[in-house]
Amino acid sequence: MRKTMLTGVRPSGSLTLGNYLGAIKNFVDKQELYDSYIFLADLHAITSYIEPKKLKHAIKDAIAMYLACGVDPKRTTIFKQSDVLEHGTLGFIMTFQTKISELSRMTQYKSKANTCHKDGVDTGLFVYPTLMVADILLYNTHIVPVGKDQQQHVELTRDLAERFNKRYGNTFEMPDVYVAPVGNKILNLQNPLEKMNKSDDGNNKGTIFLLDDIDIAKKKIMSAVTDGYNRVHFDEDNQPGISNLMSILSKITGEDFSSIEQRYLGRGYGEFKREVAEVVADLLRDIQAKYRIYCDEELQNHILVEGAKQAETIAKETLFRVKQSMGLQ
Ligand code: TYM
Repeated sequence: MRKTMLTGVRPSGSLTLGNYLGAIKNFVDKQELYDSYIFLADLHAITSYIEPKKLKHAIKDAIAMYLACGVDPKRTTIFKQSDVLEHGTLGFIMTFQTKISELSRMTQYKSKANTCHKDGVDTGLFVYPTLMVADILLYNTHIVPVGKDQQQHVELTRDLAERFNKRYGNTFEMPDVYVAPVGNKILNLQNPLEKMNKSDDGNNKGTIFLLDDIDIAKKKIMSAVTDGYNRVHFDEDNQPGISNLMSILSKITGEDFSSIEQRYLGRGYGEFKREVAEVVADLLRDIQAKYRIYCDEELQNHILVEGAKQAETIAKETLFRVKQSMGLQ
């Protein structure tokens, strides 16, 4: 029996080079090997307020982006989370199985809760990992490609699946996380101590968006913060900026770090940045050309309707099994 792979992206803004290199590329590279599911995590996008118009646009943007990045609807089921109601139901059930201490430990929650405004932290931010648990378990998922920041949530999924299976009998498949060795945490170009995020406080200079104007994207790479060592060398602790650019280059071209280091022996950062800028520009040009084709609304609707039907079939079976195990059915 073929194994199942699943991942999702929150459509809460334009997708970034971090989303592509940390998750989507890994998914695309493996999609032929698995029964593959990729979804728009739109319920996750509303864990904090997002303007409805912006959300609608972000959903369309994300589906066109999935396709432009190489997700193949003939091989992969593409769907929108909110179209498959079982996510909500299983999310609810899994929330009841989770200890407050487990959710309080989540580093994503801790870091985002710190930046929330003074009128309080939305419950959505606190419980969203258990919805993610449901997203994964509904499809009997074996492998979940994500960036480093989501690893803890997949580990929580394993803990909860194990607890559920012990309590109610074998019901869930145990998922494995796949965090690629290179590019699992692309850093902000202006502050290489922080992750590259969809929302970048410092006027977006630190984040490359997949739809960035090509010249602007190149400028962002050229003005990336580096260090005074003046040697192209992979050392995440002492040279985070240069190491980040090396990760970007290596992840896109496949060249390993030692080969990059060899090529740049005795050469300056300017030349190195120019190469990274060109490689990123080529990638963006390719994605953007395809993106324009996939903005077709009819095509998108067709894919989402078909995707939801396929996803729903599996999700319903799993939820039925869960209810049986728990005595709800
Ligand atoms: P989200 O939308 O924040 O990010 C989508 C994917 O992109 C990865 N990522 C990065 N990887 C490397 N470097 C970066 N700078 C970077 N920024 C983002 C994330 O790790 C993620 O893999 N909760 C999830 C979406 C989700 C999900 C799921 C994923 C919901 N349910 C089930 C997998 C399985 C999220 O907010 O991802």
